[in-house]
Amino acid sequence: MAAIRLVCLAIVLVLGVGHALDFSKAKDVPVLVKTLKNLNRGPPQQVVTKRANVQEKWITQKLDNFDDSNTETYQMRYLINDEFQTDGSPIFIYLGGEWTIEQSMVSAGHWYDMAQEHKGVLVYTEHRYYGESIPTTTMSTENLQYLHVKQALADVAHFITTLKSENAQLANSKVVLAGGSYSATMVVWFKRLYPDLVVGGWASSAPLLAKVDFTEYKEVVGRAFLELGGQQCYNRIQNGIAELESLFANKRGAEARAMLRLCNSFDDQNDLDLWSLFGSISNVFSGIAQYQSGNDINDYCDYLLSFRDDATAIANLVYWAWGVPSCIDATYASTVEYYLWGVENFDAGRPWYYQTCNEYGWYQSSGSRNQPFGTKFPATLYTTLCGDVFNSRYGNEYISNNVAQTNVDFGGMEPGVENVYMTHGALDPWNPMGHGVAEGATLIANASHCSDFGSIRSTDSAEMRASKEKLAELMREWLA
Ligand SMILES: *[C@@H]1O[C@H](CO)[C@@H](O)[C@H](O)[C@H]1NC(C)=O
Repeated sequence: MAAIRLVCLAIVLVLGVGHALDFSKAKDVPVLVKTLKNLNRGPPQQVVTKRANVQEKWITQKLDNFDDSNTETYQMRYLINDEFQTDGSPIFIYLGGEWTIEQSMVSAGHWYDMAQEHKGVLVYTEHRYYGESIPTTTMSTENLQYLHVKQALADVAHFITTLKSENAQLANSKVVLAGGSYSATMVVWFKRLYPDLVVGGWASSAPLLAKVDFTEYKEVVGRAFLELGGQQCYNRIQNGIAELESLFANKRGAEARAMLRLCNSFDDQNDLDLWSLFGSISNVFSGIAQYQSGNDINDYCDYLLSFRDDATAIANLVYWAWGVPSCIDATYASTVEYYLWGVENFDAGRPWYYQTCNEYGWYQSSGSRNQPFGTKFPATLYTTLCGDVFNSRYGNEYISNNVAQTNVDFGGMEPGVENVYMTHGALDPWNPMGHGVAEGATLIANASHCSDFGSIRSTDSAEMRASKEKLAELMREWLA
């Protein structure tokens, strides 16, 4: 039994790592970048049971939607599935976020099922600067000035008006939006800025409040391990990380370095290196919690508890999660170097990191005492990285002002929108930045991040099913 579990776990880990390695053929990816990428990948792909005729198309967009004197343009990609299209079909747009768009989201799942019910046209728009919708020749900080959610929302508005004006069958169609994670945030903010263009929206796991030091995130990660994995597992994580911290603090760094298989370049006297290491370790657990389903957490906990001591268990889990390299590169310098390499080598890591520095923060720090991942990854790690990777003007004050401005622009927890259905997993670490039950959102027990896009199915919990049915009912009202 244990052997079977371990084989399954190995498959899960290898698949996870394989995903990260897709981006990295040409370059080693430092573990901090690797874990951050894993946390910002797109929503889970849907299981496609029948081949849909998804077409890839392109639309010309303005490089700067807010400067009439700038006539430069770029090509934005979108996917369209018009198998149900007829006169007046509603348009079901799934918004892309900080990832590459893919076909399954317009060929299967609950969004697809609702489109089928209403004879809708399914569209998946790609966000500027991600996937193949790249507006500039490099991702220099200068060029990234055109990367902003306001620009991306204006792209969507222009997309909707163009699609309707160029297609007689859709001239008077109603439009509904869906999104997950950051693109769910975009659904809410689109409804705020362009209320007349869409009749309704579905925002799954939408963070609404921008915040530099996002201390709550790791609390929920810890809670997921406690509630789904048990107290022993939680203690193992807490004690193992505390033990590693204390080895470094008590001149026993060499032991910790060997245990963690760190590369020689790691400097345990350098705070930024230590912070990068402990941030990366905690992010392995974040990834597991953010994407958990079924018995995942239990299996990981069984693995952790199969070792004789706490620190060895942590070291082995993270080594495995990072793809068993010859040595672990957790230095701050290689993280900086990797993001600078991204100026010329397009890679989703750099533009999203830029958006965090410029608009949101959302740095998942060790600032809360109410979590098991120790004390060694303050938000300062991430804000320092902003300055070193983009421009020295990205200091603490500048980032804080940007983040405050985002909340002024979009209303933070009070976006003031109607007809947007918000869902969250109760164990999704992002949920503290979004609406709770009191504000009208639906919290789905035990669920994680963006976990409700699948079709209604027998394995859904009662709450999951009820939420999907409620959305389908709202959709009937919006499209009536
Ligand atoms: C959540 O998961 C726990 C642990 O597996 C289980 O005991 C509980 O019944 C679940 N709750 C719901 C509402 O599914």
